[in-house]
Amino acid sequence: MLTPPPGQEARSPGARRSGTHGCKSEVTFEASGRAEHRGLSERRCDGRFCRQDDLDQGKPRGALRIAAARWEIRGRNPAHARGRPARLGRIVMKVTRDITERRRADEALRVSVDSVKDYAIFMLDRDGTVASWNAGAARIKGYRSDEIIGKPFSVFYTQDDIAAGKPDLGLEAASRDGRFEDEGWRVRQDGSLFWASVVIDVLRDATGKTRGFSNVTRDMSEKKRTADEIKDLAERLLRSDRELEQFAYVASHDLQEPLRKIQAFGDQLRLEYENQLGAEGQYYVERMDQLAKRMRVLIDDLLTFERVSNRDNKVTTVDLPEVVSGILSELDAWIKELRAIVKVEALPTIVADPVQMRQLLQNLIGNALKFHRPDVPPVVTVSARCRDTRAPRRRRGDATGKVCDIIVADNGIGFENKYASKIFNLFQRLHGLEEYEGTGLGLAICRKIVERHGGTITAEGKPGEGAKFTATLPCR
Ligand SMILES: Nc1ncnc2c1ncn2[C@@H]1O[C@H](COP(=O)(O)OP(=O)(O)OP(=O)(O)O)[C@@H](O)[C@H]1O
Ligand SMILES: [Mg+2]
Repeated sequence: MLTPPPGQEARSPGARRSGTHGCKSEVTFEASGRAEHRGLSERRCDGRFCRQDDLDQGKPRGALRIAAARWEIRGRNPAHARGRPARLGRIVMKVTRDITERRRADEALRVSVDSVKDYAIFMLDRDGTVASWNAGAARIKGYRSDEIIGKPFSVFYTQDDIAAGKPDLGLEAASRDGRFEDEGWRVRQDGSLFWASVVIDVLRDATGKTRGFSNVTRDMSEKKRTADEIKDLAERLLRSDRELEQFAYVASHDLQEPLRKIQAFGDQLRLEYENQLGAEGQYYVERMDQLAKRMRVLIDDLLTFERVSNRDNKVTTVDLPEVVSGILSELDAWIKELRAIVKVEALPTIVADPVQMRQLLQNLIGNALKFHRPDVPPVVTVSARCRDTRAPRRRRGDATGKVCDIIVADNGIGFENKYASKIFNLFQRLHGLEEYEGTGLGLAICRKIVERHGGTITAEGKPGEGAKFTATLPCR
């Protein structure tokens, strides 16, 4: 800023003398003359930029005196540096900055912070005493501002946290690192607890010294409750999954022995007591044998399910066209009997457990053939589609995000889509045994296989039109 000639100070655009505009100025002086600056009247010097009440209180003169004294203290005068009293000149430089807008902005910020309701926003002194309080803080913590300002912010902490020194540790961390973030239980005025997400920021002065802290607290109780419920549910699911696996293990191993004996006694009855049994007795023995056989199939399927659950995936490259042609040659007689058409489109080579890939496709193709419409020869299509699940700009050269959909579709009886996820449950069947045989374990095994490969399986159906199963496996 230019040093104006005495009595002709530069007028900053916003600096007005009148107080009616509420204009506030921050005035700094640099004196190149003695405070009394002989020959300059206070009014001429700077009085016209001051409000009348400031003039009445002699503020401009006082300011000049302070400026001159500071100048001397700073020792900018070379004469003073030599230990002689300075011969002071007559020029005073006054720098005026219009900070009206800044004040307005500060005020607007304060008002808007005060009215925020979703966040508790409050200031702390250096020692953690509450210095300000907004509407959100009152809502979340329950204190009115006059009840809490001046109190230590440790009152928001639980007794255990206070005993562990948590409030001080938080302030220390914020002082050291600039910011401290925490989640934990906090105490409301009525003693009730809420789950809080807390951010403490340090406030420093121009020299870097800690002036205090700002504290922003959010009540996350609802979110925490939901997260806890989900965690609880996931744990229960995992537990029931494990229990089911355990059950499958026990059932498949321990039921085999008694079943074998039932079948053996049935055989003996038939062989040694055939004549005594009569027609009715023979029918009963026959039924018993059929049921025992069915139970054996059930146990075998359970055993398969249990093996899929507990077997480590032996991952290697799997040539899907080869797997499918192996399955089709095994099912050849049945395919001919049904006059079925199985179309196999181009299939890739993938990295997976070959035994399980075979089980998966066998179950899906088997179902597609089995659940055909009466008198309508089945048409089954096996296809695959590889795709990148990432957004185009995130795609990289590696396989992450790439998946392979293996699709088995048919023109059979289909099903209502509301059953699309249910049919993957253990023993879940939509049709009676008289119509279609099976144990209801095939799709549960499929799902287990796909999930063990980090993938998903979905089903779509339309009654009387057909079904489509899509196993999505991540590419490795
Ligand atoms: N392609 C399909 N079309 C129509 N319904 C199907 C099809 N695949 C499965 N379902 C329905 O889903 C049920 C469950 O299938 P899943 O393969 O688990 O059992 P299943 O074939 O009956 O017996 P299992 O496979 O154990 O011999 C079936 O009983 C059937 O109702
Ligand atoms: Mg099946």
